[in-house]
Order: sequence, then structure tokens, then C-alpha cells
Amino acid sequence: MEPLSRRNMLRAGGALGAIGAMSIAAPAQAQTLWTWSPTGSVAGTGAGVDPRWVWDEEADPLVASLIERGDVPQVNALLRTWKKNGQPLPAGLPADLRDFMERARQLPSWADPAKLDLAVKFNEKRGLYLGVLYGLASGMMSTVIPKEALAVYYSQGGADMKDRISKTAKLGYDIGAVNAYKPDGEMIVTAVKTRLVHAAVRHLLPQSPYWTPVAEEDIPISQADIMVTWHSLPTTVMRKLTEWKVPIPAAESAAFLHSWQVGAYLLGVKEEYIPNSWAEANSQAEQVLDPILRPTPEGIKLADILLNLGAPIDAGILSAGILGAFTRFMLGDEIANWLKIPRELIWDPLLRTAWGPFIAVREGLLPFPLAPKAYWLFDEFLRKAALLFLSEAKPISIEIPLTNRPT
Ligand code: HEM
Repeated sequence: MEPLSRRNMLRAGGALGAIGAMSIAAPAQAQTLWTWSPTGSVAGTGAGVDPRWVWDEEADPLVASLIERGDVPQVNALLRTWKKNGQPLPAGLPADLRDFMERARQLPSWADPAKLDLAVKFNEKRGLYLGVLYGLASGMMSTVIPKEALAVYYSQGGADMKDRISKTAKLGYDIGAVNAYKPDGEMIVTAVKTRLVHAAVRHLLPQSPYWTPVAEEDIPISQADIMVTWHSLPTTVMRKLTEWKVPIPAAESAAFLHSWQVGAYLLGVKEEYIPNSWAEANSQAEQVLDPILRPTPEGIKLADILLNLGAPIDAGILSAGILGAFTRFMLGDEIANWLKIPRELIWDPLLRTAWGPFIAVREGLLPFPLAPKAYWLFDEFLRKAALLFLSEAKPISIEIPLTNRPT
């Protein structure tokens, strides 16, 4: 008989298993209690169960069974043809997967088409900032989110970070693309496929010989983890845009949040954990994101790969040194030092002194360019970074993995 573990209990008992498992595993992990109230969520109500012990009770057993039945190669081949939100699912998918995907692709009842349209406008207007923010603020932050860094490093995608980053960037691209959630958009497809990938990782990673010694948990990617990563994306982006004093009309800011609320829902996050406002998002992030950031050897390696991504494309303005300086500027000295990012003699002080006025001039808030040459450099940097972190992502197909990082 297999030993009793959280994993087996979950397989056997779904949500009930999760609660039982909580009582077994909790003492080993003396962490702060989850106190964020579901009254601040899009559901407005909920049981308040700590999401560190909630995974995806629908997708997890289903994908585990696809893997064990040997169906994944055929499913991946079929799903390669499923690209647009409005496209019917390909014929020939196993019936249980088809049923699940038909449900999972539905937008929630609270999805607001007008807000989603406005979010697209916001993304168009702010695409240049979003490129660099998703790529360097969110992307680099993910390397100091220990559980994410470990999961990414030891999963199949960890062995080919360029490919993995392109796939993740696809989500950033799709959520901001025109028609993101409309029938000819791709965000619903990307999110549902990602939900399947996450379920596969929950099944596979615990089997990796590397995982057990380093992991703080036996099953990765809990609902809490997803919200942590979620906060490294829209919450961090909005924090930075606000800090940079980029003027954003309240309706656009709410629309951007809405597009990510719908995104979280499609990734399988329960409505009771999805914040209903920026105030609630910030309060949840203060509880779940800010205190957990710390370096790991795996995260440092991932950050190094990420910083060197630009070099083959543009060894000048996207050099590791400049991407590093930008990271230091956005995430601060502590995180930059954790990631062993060297100081940049020219760009560090330049960003500190000239970025604020550059934004003000760019946004029409300051009439006179004070340092035109630096501004041109910054503009060029934004354009190249947007290209690197967003547009490169388009033709990539997200597939259910069958293995972990090779041993
Ligand atoms: C895969 C996005 C949360 C770990 C992916 C993929 C996307 C994605 C688009 C598919 C790319 C690929 O196949 O490589 C997101 C988003 C998240 C989120 C938007 C939250 C809002 C997390 C969290 C973890 C995680 C919290 C871990 C704690 C992984 C891993 C893979 C993956 C290990 C598979 C990599 C592979 O083996 O190919 N995610 N993710 N993700 N994600 Fe996430």
C-alpha cells in the first residue's frame, strides 16, 4: 500500500482530503494564518479555507488520469489545433477532458464585456510600460517567489527557460491583445491550457527526485501560490505605474484589474480568493506576496537566464547589465542583491535621477525635456523590452508536460 500522504488523500478525497491533509501538514509549516476575508472577493462570500491547502479539485484528478492512461501525447496533438476562444474543441478528445474543458472555458457570470473592452484599450495605450513591467518587475519577482522558482526550475520547462518564458509571455500578450476574451481572441484558450499544465505539474513534480529535498510542500501550485504569482503580475504592475505617477483614469485601472480577475478565474482560482478591488488586492498582496519573497539557488539561476535573454537580440540596450539595472531600479536593492545583480555604473544613477522626469515628459506632465538623450535611450529601451517580453510570444503552443526537468 502507498504511504498515507497529502497527495494520496487528495486523490482519494478531493476537497475533504485537502482539509484532512491540512491538519497533517500544517504543524510542519508554521506560517502566518490566512486571514484575508472572502467578503473582499469577487464572490463576496466564502468558507475562508486557507488556500494554501486548496489546489484544483476538478483538473488535478483528471489530468493525473490522462497522464496515467497515456492519453497526453494525443491530447496535446489535438489541442495544438485549438487556438481561438470561439473555436469548438477538437474532435477526438477523451470525453472526461472534453466535459471539463467545456465548463472551464465559460466566462464567469460577473465578467463584464464593457470592462474587458476598456482593458484592451488600456493595454494598447500602456503596452510599452506593460512589456517592461511584466518582463522585469513580474518576471524577475517570480525568481524570488521561492515556491514558484523551485517549481519552475525542477519542472520540464526549467530546462529550457527561453521556451518557458515565451510561453508565459504568451499569457501576458493574450490578456492584453485586442479581443482577448472574445471569440477570435486567445486568452481563454491560453488560460484553460495553463490550468491543465498546472494540474500536470501537481502530479509530476512530486515524483521528481530533486523535488522532495528542496520543496516546502509535496504538492505545488496551491490556490494561494497562484494568487501570489497573480500579485507579482497585475498588482505589482499597478503599484509601479502608480509609483511612476503614470496618469490612469479610474475606469481603466478597474478594467485592467477586471481582465486579470477573469484570468484568475479561468486559471481555476476559486472566486472567494479573487480580490474585488485594488484595495483588496493590495491588502491580500501585503499578506501573501510581500513577506514571502526571498532568494533560492534555483531562483538566482533563473534570474541569470532571464537577464541574459536579451543579449542575442540586442547586445546593446538589452544587455544583461541594463536589464539588471532596470530590475534593481524597479524591485529595489535588496532583491537585486539577493539575485546577485551587479551594480551598473551608468544606468543605476541614470534611472534613479532621470526616470521620473522622463515619465512626466512622456505623459505630458512636464513641458520640457531635461535630458533628451537619456529620454531617447529610455524610450528605445521600453520599445525593445516590449518586443522581447511580449511580441516574441505569439506562435507558441502550450502543452501538457509528461516529465520533469531531466535528471
Ligand atoms: C506553466 C502562467 C502560477 C508554476 C505555466 C504556463 C503559463 C503559466 C502560461 C504555460 C507555460 C509552459 O507550458 O511552460 C501562470 C500564471 C500564474 C501561474 C498566469 C498565476 C497567475 C504558477 C505558480 C506556479 C507555477 C504559482 C508554482 C508555484 C508553473 C510550472 C509550469 C507552469 C512549473 C510548467 C512548466 C513546464 O514544465 O513547462 N504557467 N502560472 N505557475 N507554471 Fe504557471
